[in-house]
Amino acid sequence: MKIVMLGAPGAGKGTQAKMIAEAYGIPHVSTGDIFRANLKEGTELGKQAKVYMDKGELVPDELTVKILLDRVAKDDCKNGYVLDGFPRTIPQAEVLDKALSELGESIDYAVDVEVPDENIVRRMSGRRACLSCGATYHIEHIPPKKEGICDTCGSELVLRDDDKPETVQKRLTVYHEQTQPLIDFYTAKGVLKTVDGTQPMDKVFADIKAILG
Ligand code: AP5
Ligand code: MG
Repeated sequence: MKIVMLGAPGAGKGTQAKMIAEAYGIPHVSTGDIFRANLKEGTELGKQAKVYMDKGELVPDELTVKILLDRVAKDDCKNGYVLDGFPRTIPQAEVLDKALSELGESIDYAVDVEVPDENIVRRMSGRRACLSCGATYHIEHIPPKKEGICDTCGSELVLRDDDKPETVQKRLTVYHEQTQPLIDFYTAKGVLKTVDGTQPMDKVFADIKAILG
């Protein structure tokens, strides 16, 4: 099963994608997590991506597309995957579509997690992220067992540089301009499904499971 998660920054794509990955036994592939892991390791890619991410802009398609296609060509993706944060532009979606159709494959579901902009800024300021294993927490909704420490790997939790309120605003603008058109793209392909992302996460996940079966 191949799934694309759509939704504004902070809508809960990552949270739901991890739950889907676990429940359906498929890998969770997040381009944002790949960039942040590269940044942490100090790679050239990480340094290049950071320039855009810190401003709330998209990393250019030239850098993003190859990374994603290499990742989904790996063995563990043979039975499907859940993409979180890719595609984010129509050109990215077209490249993915073409690569899949050459293999006789296609995206099965594009799940749009809908959350109004007003809710987003509040969510982001409470988010804490582990840059080592990609786990995310929220200081009110999902606090870690020990403040500031990742439950999974014991690393320090941080407020992402791009979660500052002014950068979140910019990311929302970029989302509406460049990413929202994907809703029409996947509607036209007949695979778009919408869930109400303002509900508690378990309820959102129950709605997604009802769609995926
Ligand atoms: P990326 O890492 O993908 O960030 P994003 O899309 O902005 O999305 P987020 O990770 O911020 O939000 P999310 O929807 O995953 O929400 P989460 O589950 O964490 O990308 C970062 C940057 O990398 C981009 O700005 C861009 O520069 C670059 N990039 C990445 N991919 C790219 C691409 N393909 N092309 C170009 N550039 C790219 O939830 C948010 C918070 O809310 C958490 O604290 C969570 O605990 C909480 N929460 C979740 N669900 C609920 C709920 N139901 N109720 C209450 N709280 C909840
Ligand atoms: Mg995310």
